[in-house]
Amino acid sequence: MQTAAKVSMIALAAMGVPVNAASSNADARAAQLVRQMTQEEKLSLVTSDMPLMMGKNRPAEAVIGAGYVAGVPRLGIPPLRETDASLGVANLMNLRRDDIATALPSTLSLASSWNPVLAHEAGAMIGAEARAKRFNVMLAGGVNLVREPRGGRSFEYPSEDPLLAGTIVGAQVAGIQSNGIISTIKHFAFNSQETGRSVVNAVIDEPSARESDLLAFQIALERGRPGSVMSAYNKVNGDWASENDWLLNQVLKRDWGFAGWVMSDWGNVHSTAKAALAGLDQQSGKGLDSKPFFGKPLDDAVASGEVPPARLDDMALRVVRSSIAAGLLDRSDVSEVQPIDYDANARVAQKAAEQGMVLLKNEGDLLPLARSVRTIVAIGGHADVGVLSGGGSTQVRPVGGPALELRPDHPGPASAFARQTYVRSSPLQALQARFPDARVTFVDGSDPAAASGAAAAADIAIVFAEEWRTEAEDRQSLSLPGRQDELIAAVAGANPRTVVVLETGGAVLMPWADKVGAILEAWYPGQRGGQALAALLAGDTAPSGRLPITFPAGEDQLPRPKLDGVAQVDAAIRDSSGKPNYGLLNNVPTFDADYRIEGAKVGYKWFAAKGLKPLFPFGYGLTYTSFGYDGLKARGGTAPSVSIQVTNTGKVAGVAVPQFYAHVRVRGETVTRLVGWQRIQLKPGERRTVNIAIDPRLLASYNPELPGWEIAKGTVALVVGEHAGDVKAEQTLALSARRLKP
Ligand code: BGC
Repeated sequence: MQTAAKVSMIALAAMGVPVNAASSNADARAAQLVRQMTQEEKLSLVTSDMPLMMGKNRPAEAVIGAGYVAGVPRLGIPPLRETDASLGVANLMNLRRDDIATALPSTLSLASSWNPVLAHEAGAMIGAEARAKRFNVMLAGGVNLVREPRGGRSFEYPSEDPLLAGTIVGAQVAGIQSNGIISTIKHFAFNSQETGRSVVNAVIDEPSARESDLLAFQIALERGRPGSVMSAYNKVNGDWASENDWLLNQVLKRDWGFAGWVMSDWGNVHSTAKAALAGLDQQSGKGLDSKPFFGKPLDDAVASGEVPPARLDDMALRVVRSSIAAGLLDRSDVSEVQPIDYDANARVAQKAAEQGMVLLKNEGDLLPLARSVRTIVAIGGHADVGVLSGGGSTQVRPVGGPALELRPDHPGPASAFARQTYVRSSPLQALQARFPDARVTFVDGSDPAAASGAAAAADIAIVFAEEWRTEAEDRQSLSLPGRQDELIAAVAGANPRTVVVLETGGAVLMPWADKVGAILEAWYPGQRGGQALAALLAGDTAPSGRLPITFPAGEDQLPRPKLDGVAQVDAAIRDSSGKPNYGLLNNVPTFDADYRIEGAKVGYKWFAAKGLKPLFPFGYGLTYTSFGYDGLKARGGTAPSVSIQVTNTGKVAGVAVPQFYAHVRVRGETVTRLVGWQRIQLKPGERRTVNIAIDPRLLASYNPELPGWEIAKGTVALVVGEHAGDVKAEQTLALSARRLKP
C-alpha cells in the first residue's frame, strides 16, 4: 500500500516544493566543508572508478557496482557507491552471481500504468534494495523521450511524451530518494539511438528541444529533485553532451537552477578544461576513458589558470551538497548488507506488471479466458520457464537466478556484455495454477507447423512473442525477430481463439493483427511477470495499461524511415578481410541525426501533424469494461484547468484513464499535446469527477529570444479522449497572453 506520507510527497514535488527538507541548509554546509578541503580531496571527489577495474587498489569499502567515489573521512564525507539502475539493482555481466535483486518491469511498462503513485512505490522499492546492498547512488532514472522507435534502450525509457515521461520518472526518482540515497536522471540529453551512440550528433533547434526532450527532463527534475544528472554519450548540436555548455551550464544549471552534480556517462569524457568549463562536475568510471581527464590534468588546468579554482570548488561542492541533502553525512555508513524482504518486493513488481500491461485487441471478448476452458496451449517465448528482460547496464540478476540466459543471436556491440535473460516467472506454470481444471501445455514455437497443429487441437492458443532489446544496439526494424510473424499467422489460421502476448522492448509491427483474437502488450514484465500475465488473462485483474508510445503501422510512417548511422557504423567496423569487428567501433566518424525533421513533434504529435493512422495510437488500451464521459469544463486564464465526469458504463470494475489533449498553435502550426490525465478505478455504474490543473508550459511555445515560454492571447481547442486522436468531448480554452521563465 502507498502510504499517505509518500503520496503527499509526490503532491509536494508536483507543486515544485523541494521534497528533501535537508536541502535548505545543504549549500552553506557544503560550502564550509569545501573550504576545508585540500586540492587533492577536491580532485578525488570529481572522479569515480569502476570498482571492477580498480584491481588491487580497490578499497574494502567499495562495493562492486558501476562506480565508486572515495569520501573525505576527516571531514565526515562518506564514499559514494553507485549502482545501476532504473529496473532494480543491476548486476552487469553477472559478476556477482549470488547477488540477486528484484527485477522491476521495464520503464515503458511503468509508464504504461500512467500512475505516478505506482512509479514512486516502485522507485522506493528498488531504492531500498540498493541501500540494503550498501549503495547510496542509484543511476536511475532514464527520462529520454522514445524519439526513435527502434532505439535499443527504449525499454529503459518511459514515453514519447514529455509530460508523461517527466511525471513517471520524477515520481520514480522521488521514490528512490525517499530511502535517503541519491538518484540520477539520465542521459542528458537526446540519447535517442544506440547506433554510433558516442559519435552521433543530435541536431535540433532550441524551441523544439525545450518543448520535447528537455521538457521531459525539466519536469522529472522538478518532481524528483535528483542529486545528480548523467550526461549522454552523444553530441548535441556539435558538442558532446558531456562538454556542452548550452546543455549543462545554460539550460540545466542556469535556467533550471539544478544544484546537484553532473556526472559523465561511463567512458564519455573527451577533454579536461572544455568539459569542466561547460559544466561537467565528475568524470565517471575513469578507467574507461582514454585518460584520467579530471585527475592530474584537471589539477594542471587549475594551476595554469585554464580552469578557475572556483570552478573546481563548485564541482566538489555539488557532490557534497547532494550527499548532505540525501542525509549521507548524518548517518553512519553500514558495513554489512542488510536483509531484504524479496517476497514483499516481488508483490510490488507484480503490481507494476499488472498495471503496465496493455490490452490492444479483444475481439468478441475473448479475454478474460472463460473459466470453462478445457485446453490451452502456450506457444513460444520460453513461456515454460520465464519472461524476457532487456539487456545492458540495467540488467538485474533476478531473484531465483535467471531462468535462462542466451547469447545474442548475432554479432554486435552488445554481444560482449549482454545476455538475453529470462526472469524466473513462468507464464505456463502461472496459467496452470489459475486454470487447475484445464490442460495447459507448451510447445516451443520453433516449428510453425507443429505449433499450428497444437493450436488446432486446443480451445485457446496463446503465442508468447518476444523482441529482445539491449543497450548498445538498436533494432534494425520493427518486425518481430525470426519467424515469429509466420508462427503467429499459422497459429491464428489454425485457431481463431488465438491470444498474442507481446514481450517487447518497444513498438513492433503486427502484420497478423487482423487474424488473431486478442493482443496483450506485456513489455518486459519483471520478477513476477508470469503471474501478472496469468492474472490478467484469467480476469482476476482487469488490464489497465495505456500505451506510452505510438505503435506505427510501418516504418515508412516514421520521421526517419531508416535509422541514421547504420552505413557509417558498418563501414567503420569492417576489418581488412571485410568481417565485422566491433572492437573497431571507435573508428566510427561523427554523423548527424537530424531531429529538426520532427522537431518537438515526437510520436503521436508527428502522426497527428502528418495525418497518419498508426497501428495503435499513443494512450490506447482496452479493459474489460467501458466508460462514458460528460460535463467537460475547461477554465482558461492564468491557472488553466479542466474537468470531466467519468462513468463506468460496463458490468465489471475497471480503470479509466481520461486523457486531455490541447491543440496549440506553435510557430505557425497546430500541435497536439497531452496536457493531463488521471487514472481512476471505477465500479460498475460508478461516476466520478476528474479535475486537472494544466501546466501552462504545455500551452506555450518556447522563445529563445525572451528567453522563456510564451502564451499568446487567444483560444485553444481542448479535447478529452481515451487515446491520442480520440474525441469524446471538446471545449475551448480562453488564454490570456503570458510569459514564463525558462
Ligand atoms: C550506461 C549508463 C550506466 C553506466 C554505468 C553506461 O554504459 O549508458 O546508463 O549508468 O554505463 O553502468
